[in-house]
Amino acid sequence: TVVVADTGDLEAIRQYQPQDCTTNPSLILKAAGLSGYSHLLDEARALGDVETAIDQLTVRIGTELTRLVPGYVSTEVDARLSFDADAMIEKARHLIALYAEQGVGRGRILIKLATTWEGVQAARTLEAEGIRCNLTLVFSQEQAVAAAQAGAYLISPFVGRITDWYKKHTGTADYAPDQDPGVQSVRGIYRHFKTHGYPTVVMGASFRSAAQVRALAGCDRLTVSPALLGELAADTAPLEQALTPVPATATEPTLTEADF
Ligand code: E4P
Repeated sequence: TVVVADTGDLEAIRQYQPQDCTTNPSLILKAAGLSGYSHLLDEARALGDVETAIDQLTVRIGTELTRLVPGYVSTEVDARLSFDADAMIEKARHLIALYAEQGVGRGRILIKLATTWEGVQAARTLEAEGIRCNLTLVFSQEQAVAAAQAGAYLISPFVGRITDWYKKHTGTADYAPDQDPGVQSVRGIYRHFKTHGYPTVVMGASFRSAAQVRALAGCDRLTVSPALLGELAADTAPLEQALTPVPATATEPTLTEADF
């Protein structure tokens, strides 16, 4: 399992030295406060153009992050565009162009898109242009399969948000790791991808506990917050492989919007 840091916090990246890191607008805003970039937001607020400011901030911090991690920096397209494929494509190209101005090539960036049907279509176009995508907010096998069939480089199936939903709606206080609905969802997607030979990377995300991370050890990648990376680093129990390799034995038909 490749460990990825779910943060834009430069200090945490220096401390944990992950392979990749994943960001989103709220992590970027948090990192801006921590990394001395908040003046960019103040300047743009004065211009009344917060969208430009967020893009600039995202790429400025993202550029710093590319200097600290050897692998990919995931950079998210604003979720408000999630039901407009053309707008997502345009924003992704814009972010890649801003990175290029900073001397960062597209090979270092994963464009993070919500896994709506429109997000999947945007990923198909971007991947064909050589812009790699991280399809996020994956809660179901159908979303995961549609993303893989569109040629997405990576998907981020969520653990915590699924488990939070189940806890809230069933009144369950806590789940044992093997019974955790978020863990089970990601395990199912991982098994399905390997069984069907999809090359798309499966990266478990949205963790609420170190136990959930441990329950998915063996997954292609896991993106974990600095707080949980700290807990895992402090725990001396060895990380046991919870997922085992599955040989590819089947293929399946291409999903359509109706299946989705
Ligand atoms: C990672 O890519 C996601 O942005 C992150 O794990 C989301 O986690 P959350 O459910 O805590 O927002």
